[in-house]
Amino acid sequence: MLIDGHGRTVNYLRISVTERCNFRCQYCMPEKPFSWVPKENLLTFEELFLFVKVAIDEGVTKIRLTGGEPLLREDLDTFIKMIHDYKPDIDLALTTNGYLLPEAAQRLKDAGLKRLNISLDSLKKDVAAKIAGKDVLDQVLKGIDKALEVGLKVKINMVPLKGINDSEILDILDYCKERNIKVRFIEYMENRHADAALKGMHGKEILAKIKERHTIRALGREGASPSFNYVMEDGTEFGLIDPHKHDFCESCNRIRLTAEGFLIPCLYFDEAMSIAASVRSGDIEGAAQVLTQVLKDKPKENRWNEAESGKEHETSNRAFYETGG
Ligand code: GTP
Ligand code: 5AD
Ligand code: SF4
Repeated sequence: MLIDGHGRTVNYLRISVTERCNFRCQYCMPEKPFSWVPKENLLTFEELFLFVKVAIDEGVTKIRLTGGEPLLREDLDTFIKMIHDYKPDIDLALTTNGYLLPEAAQRLKDAGLKRLNISLDSLKKDVAAKIAGKDVLDQVLKGIDKALEVGLKVKINMVPLKGINDSEILDILDYCKERNIKVRFIEYMENRHADAALKGMHGKEILAKIKERHTIRALGREGASPSFNYVMEDGTEFGLIDPHKHDFCESCNRIRLTAEGFLIPCLYFDEAMSIAASVRSGDIEGAAQVLTQVLKDKPKENRWNEAESGKEHETSNRAFYETGG
């Protein structure tokens, strides 16, 4: 079992397989970065898999592949199959912007993927284009339909932004209700790589919008999930991911691995340790030692918390496209 320095059990590994993305979302990568990680610095799937096996053997039961946009990495289904074949009952999921799903969904399902979280910030063509930096809506909606058609379990992520898509919270709820899929509304997490003018909606404001039309009841956090769940009068459930709140980090169960091999204990902070040298030389013991150290150093909580800082919020230096959010 993996236990961190604050006594939290860590059983969830998020692997960002590429920092590249085909969108330029305002809250993540509004412009192409000055340079991409050179190809030779990327870990191969074999190298990543070596670490995956260490992590699974030590107690990881849930793996999520992220990006950038993970479907841009060639042969991703091969990597999914490697993980699935090693531990078929693992909770194996992927977070995607959905654009490449119409073509990829079936292959992902066949390789052993179980779940997909898809970003959907607007149901209006022009607003979706404004947020993502290009016209994406039709293709993403097709992607969601395809994922459902092939039998993947789908959740939707929406980041409500003031003056941009905040009027669409109820529409996105309706869209998800019609398809019997769960939506999680995510507070915008301030970071230096995002568009500086962005203003996110606070969790309380998101709930107030929903209460304009619905009666809601709190269900609570689902295990160690960052999502706090609610149910509406008709039984429809939705989630709120509210990292600006104190209790958010108490049950954190996850660590992140980047495509270059940096193991990151907390999404907010810059600290990371590399497993690249270990996995490149096949040094399993070395990789396990890095994992132990990263868990020991895992911070207690993030600093988006406004009460903690006395300011409205703090800003993280981390690029979400490197960590996969
Ligand atoms: P499930 O397994 O379906 O619960 O997915 P998930 O919520 O772990 O994954 P997803 O990639 O869909 O993440 C949803 C949102 O939660 C993203 O905006 C993530 O950045 C955010 N998130 C996930 N884990 C953390 C965390 O440890 N800290 C913070 N601050 N945000 C997180
Ligand atoms: N704040 C909140 N959520 C974000 N995501 C990406 N960047 C941010 C941010 N700055 C979300 C995306 C995606 C998930 C992995 O992270 O919407 O659904
Ligand atoms: Fe855990 Fe850091 Fe995320 Fe908080 S911000 S939940 S400590 S990874």
